[in-house]
Amino acid sequence: MLVKWALLGLSLGLLRVEAGRGRGSPSTTTPAPPPLPGPVDLTLALDRNASSPEQPFTVTKNASAWGEFGWTSTQTSCSSGQAGTHMQAPYHLNEHGWKVDEVPLERLLVAAVLLDVSAEVAANGSFLLTADHLIAWEKKHGGLPDNSVLLINFGTSAHGGARGASRNPSVTTTATPRTTPLNPGLSQGAAVHLTTLGRVVGVGVDLPALDAVGTPRGRGEPAARALMAENVYALLNLDLSRELPAKGFSLLVLPPKVRGAAVAPVRVVATTRSPSPSRAAAAAVLPSTKMAIGTVLCLYLVQRQS
Ligand SMILES: *[C@@H]1O[C@H](CO)[C@@H](O)[C@H](O)[C@H]1NC(C)=O
Ligand SMILES: *[C@@H]1O[C@H](CO)[C@@H](O)[C@H](O)[C@H]1NC(C)=O
Ligand SMILES: *[C@@H]1O[C@H](CO)[C@@H](O)[C@H](O)[C@H]1NC(C)=O
Repeated sequence: MLVKWALLGLSLGLLRVEAGRGRGSPSTTTPAPPPLPGPVDLTLALDRNASSPEQPFTVTKNASAWGEFGWTSTQTSCSSGQAGTHMQAPYHLNEHGWKVDEVPLERLLVAAVLLDVSAEVAANGSFLLTADHLIAWEKKHGGLPDNSVLLINFGTSAHGGARGASRNPSVTTTATPRTTPLNPGLSQGAAVHLTTLGRVVGVGVDLPALDAVGTPRGRGEPAARALMAENVYALLNLDLSRELPAKGFSLLVLPPKVRGAAVAPVRVVATTRSPSPSRAAAAAVLPSTKMAIGTVLCLYLVQRQS
């Protein structure tokens, strides 16, 4: 009985702490971001518009018909692993890195943050993200969460998306024609800064490559190489056109479990539900979740008392 009451006290204490935080503690640097209205899909549909440097996505067989027992539909498709929204596993540029099927699950259910440089890219299509931009973001929003994916919005989604873009994205649409090629990217210095911090397990962009490939600084993909040397993966051609908060959300990163693959298509979903109970989750569990756990525990104990 004594033990039960002690547990009840603990759970009530948890509720009090969370309620106190809800009223706004002075220690937080920025106010809590508003929750997402629901899950947000950051994936482009995989269809023949999803081009790639090698083999674009192609449906080679589409057998759909009414038969003796009713409707049956099956397809066979052929595609490069780099078509559309895709993951580059660390093995892509690191012989000893994880392949797609080897990336640990706790690195696929992660906290996420968003750095928006679309205004910088609009002003300069060759914008290069440096370590200073990352440091400025951290000053404003607090440190990058542990076990997280850093999303960088270069603003290409607003120009019709990275859909159809080649590795050198000269993104043009009828709505906003561009005269200069859009070829921004991540600098090697920014990548090294991230690996030094050691908290980011993946970097996601609305570009077909992390580096500004096609420019001298992107030659040999130094930024992607620096990240993959530390087993950090890349998510490319993401659809970042939907508004996301700078922090306080999670990602589900789900590539098919293709054995031995360096690159593969990937489904990426943003949500304000907390990530897996990994090392990140202990720090990142949302207040509402803690509240629910506390409440359930209380109810259970009260029931046992009676
Ligand atoms: C490809 O893009 C065009 C133009 O945006 C669109 O009309 C079409 O539905 C897309 N899908 C396929 C499968 O072609
Ligand atoms: C297969 O054909 C059906 C009927 O034309 C169509 O609705 C469907 O989108 C096709 N699937 C693919 C993958 O092309
Ligand atoms: C655009 O950014 C690149 C990379 O930082 C820089 O080298 C270049 O000078 C900039 N161009 C202009 C016009 O500011």
